Amino acid sequence: MCRRDATRLVILLFSMVLFVLCYSTKSIYKEYSYSVINDISIVSLRIGVIGLLFLTMEVLFSNKIYKGVRYCFWHMYVKHSLERQMIDAGMYIQRGEYIEVPRIRIEFDKNMRGGTLKVENSIKFDKKLDDVVLTSALKKFVVERHYLTDDGNYYVYEFLDGSISFKLDFKSIEDFREYNSQIPLYKIFLDKRSVVNLQHTLIVGVTGSGKTYCLYNILLQFVNKRKPYVIYFADPKGSSLAVLGNKIAPDKTAVDMADIIDKLEEFVLAMQNRKKEIAELLRGKLDADYSTFRKTPYIFCFDEYASFVSVLANEDKKTRDKVNALMSEVILQGRQLGFFMLIIMQKSDANLISTSLRDNIPLKLVLGNSEQQTYVTAFGTGIDVPNRHYKVGEGVFTEPVIAPTPKIVQCPSLKFDILKSFKMATPVM
Ligand SMILES: Nc1ncnc2c1ncn2[C@@H]1O[C@H](COP(=O)(O)OP(=O)(O)OP(=O)(O)O)[C@@H](O)[C@H]1O
Ligand SMILES: [Mg+2]
Repeated sequence: MCRRDATRLVILLFSMVLFVLCYSTKSIYKEYSYSVINDISIVSLRIGVIGLLFLTMEVLFSNKIYKGVRYCFWHMYVKHSLERQMIDAGMYIQRGEYIEVPRIRIEFDKNMRGGTLKVENSIKFDKKLDDVVLTSALKKFVVERHYLTDDGNYYVYEFLDGSISFKLDFKSIEDFREYNSQIPLYKIFLDKRSVVNLQHTLIVGVTGSGKTYCLYNILLQFVNKRKPYVIYFADPKGSSLAVLGNKIAPDKTAVDMADIIDKLEEFVLAMQNRKKEIAELLRGKLDADYSTFRKTPYIFCFDEYASFVSVLANEDKKTRDKVNALMSEVILQGRQLGFFMLIIMQKSDANLISTSLRDNIPLKLVLGNSEQQTYVTAFGTGIDVPNRHYKVGEGVFTEPVIAPTPKIVQCPSLKFDILKSFKMATPVM
């Protein structure tokens, strides 16, 4: 037992003993009417009540009752569960007769949708605290990410209510446009809570996990911006993205290898022109990019990138080198110029997308329940992914500003005719 629980138990037992004393002395007083006995009875009753009151206040205040009854309940419930499970997992230190669990601090958000948990670090538990999966001890909450404080004294675990959904549900294209109009011109929303900068993007996931559907959401945002973006479509399997591309920009849509390479060249040419334009403008300004000069973003959208790579493997070396050079040029120079790649594939293994390309893509989404290897190839080693069952359209993403480690994402559902909703984009240069 830990010292704090032992102290609480002693106070409780002490109060109980006083109540028994009060009761028994009262019955003696009734029979013999000794005034001293009466005094003992009253004093023990008072001390007993004070003891109980003190105990109640101590429990309530240590669980932050001043933040509300609900807060106090969840604080007590989660802390108790956590301490018990830490003891079961052997995460305690024996000091004489008592045990000591690492100090725990829990802070919930204002709306109780999540919060942070801090667990005191120590030499004995450093490695354990880094590896431990605390979700099972947090009742309805799931740990999303964890890190060590700057001074190394505490591990911080950010958790959120597992039942809360961040999924947006659009019943009509008008709802969608209304929501989209509130998002800044060079940003996109992924779900209710995550809005990210426009940047190179990689979407990975097993078949049927919702990659193409997620892409529709992103593309619908692009074409409905105040200044619609210019989009190129490459769909080596000639499936739904090609249908969409042919509807909204047939001259920028390609299905077969030669055509895709042509479009890629056209895209890079447009990027080189932008480079000249921006170089002029940059003379008068340091640390600026395409957004500073309100330039229209260009997006090269690649569904089923792995099939493109496998067909490309059969081409001659010159063609392969040309494609690799074009891709690298966009990935390495596009950010400042407003030219972005949006790549979709089932796995991001090094034989399908080169490590140098992959490492320079800042926004990465892994949808559905993937194998550990898929997370490793997308996010790198030593990164933990929140442990839960991901439904279709759900997964995790990383992004340097708002999600340096994997964060849960729930792509919107679009309950309207998606194809009909895409209008011809009329870019404003
Ligand atoms: N966010 C979502 N909300 C609601 N339904 C979704 C969502 N994402 C996907 N779906 C449903 O799941 C189906 C499969 O999704 P999608 O075609 O995007 O999978 P995929 O990952 O592209 O598969 P593949 O690798 O085979 O191309 C969609 O047709 C749609 O009905
Ligand atoms: Mg698909």
